[in-house]
Amino acid sequence: MARMRVNGQALEFALDPATPLLWALRDAANLTGTKQGCGGTGQCGACTVIVDGGAVLSCAVTIGSLEGADVTTIEGLAAHPLTMALVAEDAIGCGFCLPGFTCAAAALLQQSSSPAAEQVDALPTRCACGLQPRLRRAIERAAGAMATSNQPAQQPPAPLQRTPEIVTPPR
Ligand code: FES
Repeated sequence: MARMRVNGQALEFALDPATPLLWALRDAANLTGTKQGCGGTGQCGACTVIVDGGAVLSCAVTIGSLEGADVTTIEGLAAHPLTMALVAEDAIGCGFCLPGFTCAAAALLQQSSSPAAEQVDALPTRCACGLQPRLRRAIERAAGAMATSNQPAQQPPAPLQRTPEIVTPPR
């Protein structure tokens, strides 16, 4: 069992605590936006999600280590300024790395309102479609939008509900 908040919803995973977060999200919670690209070896970044404000490789953490954590997946970033900026910059190619990239970049924007080029280049995802320049511009656009709106990208999480939804293993 592991309780956490995922995209603002309290969930209790009725799974082995050693289950990687990636598979709990995809197979049990049906949040399939998070991808597995490298076989869970921690090299591709496609599985990146946001945990307590920071970018985390979901293939590399177990749900047992995330008791009480606040998790945001790509499904939770639909209204994020970065998502709008990615569309505006036509920065969407095949889409496989995009969920992980978006989560990593959103976490970066949360930590730095005007990230340096080196910080953007250090994001743990690389676009095989060759859209890296557009992805960079999208981050700049999102940073500008967030600065002018004077609003945080993410609202502080609400308190964990007393009765979380139970998520069971897939059949
Ligand atoms: Fe490649 Fe997690 S699946 S880093």
